[in-house]
Amino acid sequence: MKPFRTIGVLLGLTAASFLQAQELTKDATKLYEQLCASCHGDKMQGGQGTSLIDDVWNRGDGSDEYLTRMITEGLPDVGMPGFGGALDAPRVRGLVVYLRERAVRSQEEQTEYAKPVEGMEVKGRAANFRIETVASGLGVPWSLAFLPGGDLLVAERSGQLRRVRGGVLEPESIAGTPKVWAKSQGGLMVVEAHPDYARNGWIYLAFSDPGEKAGEAMTAVVRGRIRDGRWVDEQQIYRAPRESYRSAGVHFGTRLVFAEGYLFFGIGDRGAQDQAQDLKRPNGKIHRVHDDGRVPVDNPFVKTPGALPTIWSYGHRNPQGIVARPGTSGAGFQLWETEHGPRGGDELNLVRRGANYGWPLITYGMNYNGTPITSETGRPGLEQPVLHWTPSIAACGLDVYSGDQFPGWRGNLLTGSLKQQELRRLVMNGEQVIEQEVLFRGIGRVRSVQVSRTGDVYVCLEEPGRVLRLVPVK
Ligand code: HEC
Repeated sequence: MKPFRTIGVLLGLTAASFLQAQELTKDATKLYEQLCASCHGDKMQGGQGTSLIDDVWNRGDGSDEYLTRMITEGLPDVGMPGFGGALDAPRVRGLVVYLRERAVRSQEEQTEYAKPVEGMEVKGRAANFRIETVASGLGVPWSLAFLPGGDLLVAERSGQLRRVRGGVLEPESIAGTPKVWAKSQGGLMVVEAHPDYARNGWIYLAFSDPGEKAGEAMTAVVRGRIRDGRWVDEQQIYRAPRESYRSAGVHFGTRLVFAEGYLFFGIGDRGAQDQAQDLKRPNGKIHRVHDDGRVPVDNPFVKTPGALPTIWSYGHRNPQGIVARPGTSGAGFQLWETEHGPRGGDELNLVRRGANYGWPLITYGMNYNGTPITSETGRPGLEQPVLHWTPSIAACGLDVYSGDQFPGWRGNLLTGSLKQQELRRLVMNGEQVIEQEVLFRGIGRVRSVQVSRTGDVYVCLEEPGRVLRLVPVK
């Protein structure tokens, strides 16, 4: 142990004088290179210090708390200097996120994921399946709606609403759908059929609505009917206040969820993170309206002066998956949501009435450039995610499995991932996720995962744009 101690003291001194000599960077990657790589290796593979990517933790459980303590206090006796005096809490937090990223990436490199092509059998933990192409030759399919008799509507980001009739993608898109702002993360995001569609024929669309001022857009929701290949009877369900339209191309959120006569949808922070906390603003919120757009009188902020009455919950960064999960007692439902964190800190939330999910006051992520947002991951009065993905998977699309095709998946959540190109299965025990399985990876960015009423699992994929169905293999 003695040589370690000497080296530790020496390097500790070097670090200290380095810190004095120049303004300390906030970038976690650079901090690691400057302060840690000499002992833990440039790839975190270990050296005088231990490997930080082998998932073996010598003196603790590898949790965020443990890593934070190690970096702050160190282990002076064995040559791990404490950096608490030199690094402020946000920088330490950034390093923890960075260590986590590298450790997970390294584990992933050693894991084999199913990368199915048509016809190939995938052996899963609770079910075996193969994939089947339902529609191809699409632009960027963002979501789909199930119509009676097995037909589908597919929303393409560009604004086209396509129809799959009798298993065949019709060449003509539905005429007369609303004009969308199809740029960056904006476009025609969601198509959804009313639960009572067979009787009332209502189809709902959520999209980036071009504002009156050129170059500005905001999330909006309409409903209409389709007659003879045309979009007709359009009614506005939700349109945000004019002053909330922004030129930013990011974080439109959405998903449309019907539950007990209500319609829930999310709007991302639109790149203005602080507004997620402002109840006078529609962005960074989940909203609840009646299925015809009226504001429910029992919404949580209807009596709060200045607050927008449609708000159901707030402090959301960018909701990309929302689903109503039937209550465990057979009655009622729970609203589950996934949202994109910044770099790290994608969240799975159980959304409660009027609750604040904390963005950007608390987060498990950091800025894309590796600088910290805050060191705070929790605060009294702010909700914690049920789980967070750090590093981010860019969770997109969310549904709960029910049906007979995959009995082993019943009650599980299914989530897509853009960045990792994955379909993930989350095994639930009550309100906890107790297991995660990557069902497949690497065949395209997953925009949407949706379970049909007959228990088929459909997935919208990008590059090339197509819709797949998972078919059970006994
Ligand atoms: C002077 C060498 C040195 C430097 C610089 C150094 N470490 Fe360490 N580190 C060590 C040693 C030695 C250990 C203890 C190994 C053991 O468990 O015996 C250690 C342990 C750790 C552990 C616990 C590992 C485990 O297996 O439980 C973490 C986490 C860690 N260091 C992170 C860092 C970070 C982050 C930095 C940069 C901010 C850093 N270290 C800088 C030498 C160093």
